Amino acid sequence: MKDKYGRLIKYLRLSVTDLCNYRCIYCMPEDGINKKSHSDILSIEELTAIAKASYELGINKIRLTGGEPLLRKGIITLCENIRSLSPDIELSITTNGSMLPSMAAKLKAAGVDRLNISLDTLGKESFRRITRKGELSEALYGIKAAQDAGFDNIKINTVLLGGINDSEVMSLIELTRDNPIQLRFIELMPIGYSKTLDKSMFITVKNIESLLMGADYTVDGVARVFRFKGYSGSIGLISPISHSFCHKCDKIRVTADGKLKPCLHSDIEYDLRGLNGEELKAAIKKAVLNKPLYHQLDTIGSEAVRNMNEIGG
Ligand code: GTP
Ligand code: 5AD
Ligand code: SF4
Repeated sequence: MKDKYGRLIKYLRLSVTDLCNYRCIYCMPEDGINKKSHSDILSIEELTAIAKASYELGINKIRLTGGEPLLRKGIITLCENIRSLSPDIELSITTNGSMLPSMAAKLKAAGVDRLNISLDTLGKESFRRITRKGELSEALYGIKAAQDAGFDNIKINTVLLGGINDSEVMSLIELTRDNPIQLRFIELMPIGYSKTLDKSMFITVKNIESLLMGADYTVDGVARVFRFKGYSGSIGLISPISHSFCHKCDKIRVTADGKLKPCLHSDIEYDLRGLNGEELKAAIKKAVLNKPLYHQLDTIGSEAVRNMNEIGG
C-alpha cells in the first residue's frame, strides 16, 4: 500500500489494551484512566481480522502495543493467530517488561520475533518516580527473562526526561558494552497527558550525539544507531522533535477501541469496528491514502486527542 505521497506503508502497530500496571508520568495521569467496558475493546477475533486484512494489503511488520500488551487476556492466542497468517510477518511487542518473567517463553513459542522493553533509568527511586507504580527490579528481571527465553535483537526504550534521567546517559550507554541490546534514547513528545509536563523535561538528543562521536553509524527504522568498536550492543537515537522522520514513515496504528490512526500526532481516525472482509480492507486503504504528510509538533503541537496509553507509541 502506498499513501498519496508515495510512502510505502508496511508496518502496523496494534494496541491491544489501554490498561497498564504502571502510570508513567509521560503517558497517563496518576489516578489512571476510566476503564473502558469490555465491549469497547477489540476482541481477539477482531484484532486477528485486522491483522489478516492488513497482511493481505501488504503489511509485513506487526507490533503489538498497549497500554501494557501483556496484560491483555488472549495475547498468546493473538500472537499464534498472527503467526499462522504467515511465517514471514515480523511480529514484535513493545512492553514495560514487568510480565516477562512468566510470559517470555510463551511469547517465543507463540511465534513472537522480537521484544522492545522500556527502561528509563537505572535508579530505584527515579524508576518509581517515572512509572509511579513500578519497581526497577521488575524491568531488569524482565529483560533477563526475555534473553533467557532466546529473544535477541532486544531494544530498550529510554525516554529522555530533563532533570530526571539526563544525568544517567553515560551509565545507560555503558550497558551496551557487554549486553547485546540496542538502547534507544527517545525524545519526549508532547502528546495527550504529557503536554502538561514541565518544559524543562523536554530535551533533545543533541547532547547525546556528541558522546557518540567515533562510533559506527547506521539507520534502523526511526532510530539513528551508533555502535562503539568492541561493544556488544548499540545506541539508538529516536528524535521525532529534532530530526523528524515523517518523510519516510511506513506505519499505521490501530487503537484498542478500533480506530485506525494514519499518523500518531493527527486527530484523524477511521473506525474499523463492525467491518469485515472487503469493507475492512477498503477502510484501511482509505486511511493509508489519507495519511498526513508530517506532524506539526514544532508549531501547533500534537493534534492527537488521546493519551499514549491508548495509542501505544
Ligand atoms: P522497531 O521495530 O524495533 O524499530 O520498533 P519501533 O521503534 O517502531 O517501536 P517502539 O514501540 O519501540 O517505539 C519506540 C518509540 O519511538 C516510541 O516512543 C514511539 O512512540 C516512537 N515512535 C515510533 N514510531 C514513531 C513515529 O512514526 N512517529 C513518532 N513521532 N514517534 C514514533
Ligand atoms: N514521548 C515519547 N515516548 C513515549 N512513550 C510513551 N509516551 C511517550 C511520550 N510522550 C514511549 C514509551 C514506550 C513506547 C511505546 O512509547 O516509553 O517505550
Ligand atoms: Fe504503561 Fe508504557 Fe504508558 Fe508506562 S509508557 S504507563 S509502561 S503504557
